[in-house]
Amino acid sequence: MRTEHARPIRLSDYRAPDWLVDTVHLDVALHPSRTRIKARLALRPNPSARGPAPLVLDGDELTPLSVTIDGAALPATEYAAGPDGLTIPQPPAGPFVLEVETEIDPSANTKLMGLYRSSGNYCTQCEAEGFRRITYFPDRPDVMAVYTTRIEAERDEAPVLLGNGNLVARGDVPGTGRHFAVWHDPFPKPCYLFALVGGRLDVRRTTFTTMSGRSVELAVYVEPGKADRAGYALAALERSMRWDEQAFGREYDLDVFNIVAVADFNMGAMENKGLNIFNDKYVLASPETATDADFAHIEAVIAHEYFHNWTGNRITCRDWFQLCLKEGLTVFRDQEFSADMRSRPVKRIADVRVLRGHQFVEDAGPLAHPVRPETYREINNFYTATVYEKGAEVVRMLKILLGPETFRAGMDLYFARHDGRAATIEEFVACFAEAGGTDLSQFMLWYGQAGTPEIAVTRRHDSQGGTLVLDIAQVVPPTPGQPAKSPMQIPLVLGFVGPDGRDVPLTLRGHGPLERGVLVLTKPAERFVFDGITVPVVPSLNRGFSAPVKIKADLGSDDLRFLATHDSDPFNRWQAVQTLASEILIGNVAAIRTGGGVRHDGGLVHALASVLEDERLEPAFVAQVLSIPSEGDIARDIGRDVDPEAIFDARHALRRAIGNDLAPTLRVLYDRLRDDGPYSPDAASAGRRALRNVCLDLLAAPGHAGAVALAAAQYAEADNMTDRMAALGTLSLHDTAERETALADFAERFRDDPLVIDKWFALQAMIPDPSTLARVERLTDHPAFSLGNPNRVRALLGSFAQANHTQFNRADGKGYDFVAGMVLTLDGKNPQVAARLMTAFRSWRALESGRRDKARATLERVAANPSLSRDLADIVERSLG
Ligand code: ARG
Ligand code: ZN
Repeated sequence: MRTEHARPIRLSDYRAPDWLVDTVHLDVALHPSRTRIKARLALRPNPSARGPAPLVLDGDELTPLSVTIDGAALPATEYAAGPDGLTIPQPPAGPFVLEVETEIDPSANTKLMGLYRSSGNYCTQCEAEGFRRITYFPDRPDVMAVYTTRIEAERDEAPVLLGNGNLVARGDVPGTGRHFAVWHDPFPKPCYLFALVGGRLDVRRTTFTTMSGRSVELAVYVEPGKADRAGYALAALERSMRWDEQAFGREYDLDVFNIVAVADFNMGAMENKGLNIFNDKYVLASPETATDADFAHIEAVIAHEYFHNWTGNRITCRDWFQLCLKEGLTVFRDQEFSADMRSRPVKRIADVRVLRGHQFVEDAGPLAHPVRPETYREINNFYTATVYEKGAEVVRMLKILLGPETFRAGMDLYFARHDGRAATIEEFVACFAEAGGTDLSQFMLWYGQAGTPEIAVTRRHDSQGGTLVLDIAQVVPPTPGQPAKSPMQIPLVLGFVGPDGRDVPLTLRGHGPLERGVLVLTKPAERFVFDGITVPVVPSLNRGFSAPVKIKADLGSDDLRFLATHDSDPFNRWQAVQTLASEILIGNVAAIRTGGGVRHDGGLVHALASVLEDERLEPAFVAQVLSIPSEGDIARDIGRDVDPEAIFDARHALRRAIGNDLAPTLRVLYDRLRDDGPYSPDAASAGRRALRNVCLDLLAAPGHAGAVALAAAQYAEADNMTDRMAALGTLSLHDTAERETALADFAERFRDDPLVIDKWFALQAMIPDPSTLARVERLTDHPAFSLGNPNRVRALLGSFAQANHTQFNRADGKGYDFVAGMVLTLDGKNPQVAARLMTAFRSWRALESGRRDKARATLERVAANPSLSRDLADIVERSLG
């Protein structure tokens, strides 16, 4: 491998393709090391192109065997073919058929892009640019074709053969021990949606009847012996299909929908037409092996990939700059689905935690980029929290601005107008502007401007005159390549909470009643006057987290405590507690750093107690309120000169104080929430377990032997992974004999189950103790660990680098050196996963100077390496920026 100083690709350089492909016939003869692919492409000049053009096809590590045009071999002088492309300088002027044969080695494919083997089975991953590793092709999403795929393999090696679309033929190849299957997909698609699978797989099936009465065969394929863990995923698929009919009027379109779970997968899952391929982590679940969080993730990812059938597949992206067109929209859809299946407020809180924990952090550092980037060197590095999660927030804001009916009308227009096409963000937003009869040009800045807007709110109440004045200013901070920003259109959902806890009506001067409570900001600074406010009120700002912004409001701790107990918006009840805790923590971090003592705040404990004792609240919500800001949250709120040790100490002290002060209540709840029935993964049961396990963790926080013993007992007696893992997590924070006993037991109990052993790797990697680095180094030699499997890498190394703030950021810099060394080794095998791991350094500039210097030195050492992949070079160079 060599460092590829590929020039950046720019959105502004977009040109329509010179050649279009109408049909693709693939003939794939599977073989462990010499798989042969015959591709027959029906090509024609693009009528909208600028006259005769050479044919330039992409390739990546391909071996060309033969090239014919309209059935006749093409002389070697008339084309150039190598590992990374095939060019025909003077192709025929009109439509023609190109046939190319290539050979590839699936067993040697450690990048897990293109056709590769996982546990001996053949599978593919083509998004974003993997299809070019199978055959030469115009590998860009605006080239859409109808595919027919014939797959042939040894019957013994691969009894199951799956492709996109519907099965049209199958049979034996007489006298060879080989068999074949032919799949036809009638829907034109970009090549990144191509997939095939061949292998020994068990299956779980059901039949789904669509809203118009068509019957669809659903199947989930898994490695042999694991079908009993596929039932939850299959049921989640049925729920997703029904929900998309009801919520968006979208019906499924093929006769079959297949899902295949594989053990080696770079990302979460892939929406290939009619043949989704999944990381087995997002399919396999049983009560004994999966936690409630795993079940929820499976439901969400199954839904996400299914929803792509309309938002991604039927309507795809014109180019990769438009990635959020399918990803942001589809994340929004899966979030809405989960909110409907579970608890809407709790889902919103969980999503906002993820957004702040990943996207806000990304947006505040050197890797910040707009939801729709304008340039990239390696597109795989743009499957980010910004494109996905902030992209979803932008769609949610459209819904908030327009209201649910107009939003739905805009979606309907989008589906009607762009079905079967490759679209852009402008085309998507135009549908909503038309449906709402409104101008969304300022709104488009959400796609073009990076950085998290910062909103400052001050209020002045005149109770005699009955007016409340809000002065609101907004600033979007500079980000790489974007030093100056324009003001954004920001929908801020608002409430004024009166003394009795009820909302006071909102009448905006010069406007009238505020529909749905949506205050729309558009200027750098604005004054809003509300009339008829005769009682003292506390403003509840950005309810439901209506806009992905940071808010600084002049709310005192009395106001926050009031909101924590009285706000009718559950999100802001939770937020008020978080803000209270965050203020205390930030003060205590500063005190610790100057050698002072931590302040103990009775007000916060009071607010927590009132939430704990409010029996009308759902347990899952209470669990969220009791989960104080994470170390990452505190670091982000501090923003600069970050000292991870001081943050840990302040947080630890607060958890101990809560555990001590609330011990009796926590213990009563812990006992009361005990569930004696059989395990069920439904949201209400999961919520009770979540609250019970938060109680356990807080009870143990002060380190009392009794509480640690309680955790050890729960670990030993648990009949489900949620309770077992929660107890182990609590034990992991206490350097006791119980911890090592439980860890050893876990390893032995689940030794044959790599997905479960990942939990064991991750937990140990997150232990906030100086001995953890040595522990993690030792675990890289554990027989269950492998750099070849992305899940193992993420569990052990990803958890250490992304989730262990004190130990990755060791003051001696050894955490950085260790991770950088692993990244460099990994880069030779799997650049995509290596580059992703390296993003752990993205907040290095915000650290205190000692750690900052060490992190910079490590980054520079990696950057100086002469043989980095393009993926890794891109991340390292942008990080140093
Ligand atoms: N489209 C997939 C999803 O559902 C992600 C695939 C990304 N894969 C990659 N190698 N970049 O989100
Ligand atoms: Zn997606």
